[in-house]
Amino acid sequence: MKIKIENSNPVRKKTEMLCGFVLESSDKILGLNKINSKIKDSVKLSLKDNNGELGKITVFPTNNKVSAKRILLAGIGKKEKITNDTFRFVAGKIAQKASELKIKEFSIISPPSFVSEPVLVNSQITEGCKMSLYKFEKFKAKKEGSTPDLSILVSKSNKISKAIKSSEIISDGVIFTKSIANLPPNECTPTTLSDFAKDIAKKNRMKCTVISKTELKKKGFGGITAVGQGSKNEPKLIILEHNGGPKSEKPIVLVGKAVTFDTGGISLKPGEKMDEMKFDKCGGCTVLGIMKSISELKLKKNVIGIVPSVENMPGGESYRPGDIIKLYNGKTAEILNTDAEGRLILADALAYGEKHYSPKAIIDFATLTGACIIALGTNVAAIVSNDDQLKQKIIQSSNFTTEEVWELPLNDDYMDMIKSDVADMKNIGIGRAAGTITAAAFLRNAIENTPWVHFDIAGVAWTQIATKSKPYNPKGATGFGVRLILDYLQKI
Ligand code: BES
Ligand code: MN
Ligand code: ZN
Repeated sequence: MKIKIENSNPVRKKTEMLCGFVLESSDKILGLNKINSKIKDSVKLSLKDNNGELGKITVFPTNNKVSAKRILLAGIGKKEKITNDTFRFVAGKIAQKASELKIKEFSIISPPSFVSEPVLVNSQITEGCKMSLYKFEKFKAKKEGSTPDLSILVSKSNKISKAIKSSEIISDGVIFTKSIANLPPNECTPTTLSDFAKDIAKKNRMKCTVISKTELKKKGFGGITAVGQGSKNEPKLIILEHNGGPKSEKPIVLVGKAVTFDTGGISLKPGEKMDEMKFDKCGGCTVLGIMKSISELKLKKNVIGIVPSVENMPGGESYRPGDIIKLYNGKTAEILNTDAEGRLILADALAYGEKHYSPKAIIDFATLTGACIIALGTNVAAIVSNDDQLKQKIIQSSNFTTEEVWELPLNDDYMDMIKSDVADMKNIGIGRAAGTITAAAFLRNAIENTPWVHFDIAGVAWTQIATKSKPYNPKGATGFGVRLILDYLQKI
């Protein structure tokens, strides 16, 4: 999809479909002040059908009475109820309508500034349209998705042009994350992910290092090697470095769990919905998408992406309940459930990130616990942090991008819940109590004192039964966190 911005008068715009926003119970199309008298009646009638209710879309033909072939009205609800997601959501609905009509291009009249701030609104329109046209069709003979081009009709400014450009890059990052996260486990192994990382590094001049099985063993990555040893698809530790800032500046380290398939291992999961565990790589895919976008944005910051990737399989070589392993930071962990594998590979990656990069902050993403879905459902991610300042910035970015988060506490009582009789820690808590927090407690043990935020994205990384439907999140992986972290990185 190509996006351009144009100063042109909407009434005279030659287009397959001219799209305008309508406030609830209003009799006007926003930004369309003078309507050609030849179509005034049709517009009036259509405004009666479309009362401006949020997300309501109506289209009518103009029978060539004006330059546009069709007019689309898009309801945005009440003015006082407009959120940071309204235009992303509604623009997504418009783009899907355009795709459904199989037209080659469409035009959106940008709403006037009294409705919403122009830079923000045009970024949101861009994101909504781009992201909503993504469809996972790689394995379909018949591909349905058509991606019409978009003209945004707005009084041009450098600021708006720049914002739209970066929104395109950000949306492409989200789409990239979704498209690799949606891959089935037979088509996406740790090696496949490392190839994707090498590929984006090469295209955008990042440094990419991939540490393989023998080397991981030698260097003491006990968590990654233990979890990975049951699969013939060997584990990898993927490291991407974007050095956009001064050499002396400490980097931000991003870590993402990439279990390409989580069977649970010897502590085998039940069969029902086990297929969904192909999405257990979503945290890692989020980190790769962020790295792709920051390199394309040429962000003037130092950012490191670390993705531990394994397949968790049962077999003759698998690690077992009862095993005691040594993690990268030298601490030992008693394995009581091989299905609590994410924290083991993340502990290695977090410790490695802290030791080698002395970062300003560490942020990790993981589909870590089913308990997170019980606690917060499928529209809100859990965060756990050791640093108020960092956490506040993350919450601000979350409010801005509307990728929702909610903080869970982590105090010493929770830390005590993962103490082991025979090792420094055990890899599960006490029964099912506070499962998301005890998992975070395990991660907390992997870092010393660096400011850290952990995202448990088990509920939000892909669409599940209770997921709120959004045009820009079709069935499958959502790319949760990509926009949020890109906003955070651009603002610090
Ligand atoms: N990847 C799963 C968590 C998960 C489950 C995410 C379902 C999304 C949907 C993780 O590796 C896991 O299996 N966690 C266990 C931990 C338990 C054994 C302490 C869980 O949540 O059941
Ligand atoms: Mn598991
Ligand atoms: Zn898992």
